[in-house]
Amino acid sequence: MTEVSHQQWGQVCGRGAVDLWVLTSPQVRVEVLTLGAIIRSVCSRGSDGQMQDVVLGYDDLEGYLSDQRYLGAVVGRVANRIAGGRFVVDGKDYQLDINNGPNALHGGLLGFNKAIWFAKAVEGGVQLSHTSPDGDQGYPGEVHVSVTYTLQGETLTAEYQAVSSKTTPINLTNHSYFNLAGQGAADIYDHQMSISAESFLPVDNSMIPTGEIKAVEGTPFDLRKPVLIGPRLKEVPGPGFDHNFCLSSPGDTWAERHAARVSHPASGRVLEVSTSQPGVQFYTANFLDGVTGKGGAKYGKHSSFCLETQNWPDAVNQPSFPDCLLCPGEKYLHVTRFTFTTV
Ligand code: BGC
Repeated sequence: MTEVSHQQWGQVCGRGAVDLWVLTSPQVRVEVLTLGAIIRSVCSRGSDGQMQDVVLGYDDLEGYLSDQRYLGAVVGRVANRIAGGRFVVDGKDYQLDINNGPNALHGGLLGFNKAIWFAKAVEGGVQLSHTSPDGDQGYPGEVHVSVTYTLQGETLTAEYQAVSSKTTPINLTNHSYFNLAGQGAADIYDHQMSISAESFLPVDNSMIPTGEIKAVEGTPFDLRKPVLIGPRLKEVPGPGFDHNFCLSSPGDTWAERHAARVSHPASGRVLEVSTSQPGVQFYTANFLDGVTGKGGAKYGKHSSFCLETQNWPDAVNQPSFPDCLLCPGEKYLHVTRFTFTTV
């Protein structure tokens, strides 16, 4: 049985109130903000029975309004990068704002993470909806989008839906940063990581997939069996993991699959992720550089990890990648589940 409650959390000048929703099951407590459909906290029990907050975030609304790292937020209209911020749909060229080197990242300067979503209670959770107007951040079509967070026992489910008035690329995810040790832990080096992927997408020097779908076998990206992340990070070229792992192949049917399992032996906490999406961006917080978070904590490089379930980055420009176009009359559906248990 999940209890659901809400209260006002703050006001954004000229834009209205931001509410905090609280979902409480016997095992897990989740806080969600109507700003950016942000997961503000997830408290789960360790083997000793102690509840700890296992996601990064800020103490107040100001922190989330000025955030540049997408802590806990739903990102869209298109998560991850679009090369040059450019694409062609129905023979028409589109140019998005460039906000990450030469590329467009996570929906643009004012993406879904900065919108105030409309919230309504549903059984065991909250449904957040948002309307993105035609031309929003350069994207075609008016998009009606919703994300429904429900909590059942140990499992937090995020269910995304969208419809559009014109054909548009779409790729929604949640950008929570996890550390299963709880608040104040400096890094994730003592976490054991596994990802159910036979292949991953190598990237160029602006982080756009090269187009190659590379087998993980014989590379540091082979996480099919659990590995201790600290030593493995030293083998990865560049600052850490920031790659799409392929959970299925282009053309595979829409089906929910196991994506990842992370365990933290010292606390006994385990996170399992499953998703209907064909990929997951495993990101080891390589670009966090001392952001001040909850309780004054400093979030640095490798302080946390993200498992952003998604379509493959730059799919709109890469015909061999899974289709990311949402046409009028179609419905975008995406389900991701996060399950918090102990070893
Ligand atoms: C990207 C990173 C980026 C981070 C925060 C991740 O999804 O892959 O490169 O720094 O989001 O914006």
